[in-house]
Amino acid sequence: REEPLAATPPMGWNSWNRFGCAIDEDLIRRTADALVSSGMRDAGYDHVNIDDCWMAPERDAEGRLQADPDRFPSGIRALADYVHARGMRLGIYSSAGTRTCQGLPASLDHEEVDARTFAEWQVDYLKYDNCDNLGRPAFERYLRMGEALRATGRPIVYSICEWGENAPWEWGREVGGNLWRTTQDIKDTWDSVLGILDRQAGLEEHSGPGGWNDPDMLEVGNGGMSESEYRAHFSLWALLNAPLIAGNDVAEMSEATRRILLNRDLIAVNQDWGGMQGRRVRDDGDQEVWAKPMSDGSVTIVLLNRGDAPSTVGVRPDETGLPLASGYRLRDLWTGEETRTGTLVEAEVPVHDVVVYRIWPTE
Ligand code: DGJ
Repeated sequence: REEPLAATPPMGWNSWNRFGCAIDEDLIRRTADALVSSGMRDAGYDHVNIDDCWMAPERDAEGRLQADPDRFPSGIRALADYVHARGMRLGIYSSAGTRTCQGLPASLDHEEVDARTFAEWQVDYLKYDNCDNLGRPAFERYLRMGEALRATGRPIVYSICEWGENAPWEWGREVGGNLWRTTQDIKDTWDSVLGILDRQAGLEEHSGPGGWNDPDMLEVGNGGMSESEYRAHFSLWALLNAPLIAGNDVAEMSEATRRILLNRDLIAVNQDWGGMQGRRVRDDGDQEVWAKPMSDGSVTIVLLNRGDAPSTVGVRPDETGLPLASGYRLRDLWTGEETRTGTLVEAEVPVHDVVVYRIWPTE
């Protein structure tokens, strides 16, 4: 691999948000196929990540983790081959504790053997959870696995799932992490999205190429929120340079869900090579403005209405980090409509929704 791991925020799919422990190898194969046929792989969603509950209740005679024989009879290596043959990468899960959050064997004090096992299976990504950690310091636990992964010689994206409890944004890179969760688990509700959003403000400086703040995986399409709420969730996560890890049933998604997850303009915002995380530039109660500087000199802004009544949300371009100019060109990233403005960018934003503009200064 030429470029550094996770040079832009990782994209893909993970089994947890929609399926929990109800997973098996058919689901993983079916999802890999659906990522291809839906166009998601080609839009950048190229990691197929298995979360908790893939492993058998006991290690094998040599002390290695093994796949659950009933639900994953072909084994993880066969799934890696399946996913690789379709131009994607396979992700797996363990915990920096004695057991996973669902009570299965995990990697604390087994870091070297488990990292070697994952590498032998041709795994490309490890999500490393925080359950059953015996109260041992997080830095040491996550460092040990980071070093074990590096020692395998295989490039494996290292996803630190420590829930933001010990400020992992301060040491995530040092232990070899490529992304680190900043909060407890997301839920499929508007309140959860807003609660997580509020905790991202101020963390911008810690995120960048190779090491990203992770506000948790997407809930888009899981049924608990309205279409506008999912649009807002996706827009904000894109602007925050969040890893875009879909968490829905890709094989059965609606057209509305597909349109959100496949918004190419927003994916381009998320994957901008400059890697600058968006920040909150206005906070007027229920009306907020978030802005992300883009590497071509434009700025993408999200006008957010958190409230229960439609509302006008506005900002002066120079408040977003844009240079003062006589005018600005705007592209609405949900409608594609292009307009021009002078000294104020504003829009009528429906309830629990966003308007997203990419803005370029004109002469
Ligand atoms: C807690 C993590 O934060 C979740 O994302 C998920 O991996 C579960 N554990 C699985 O048990």
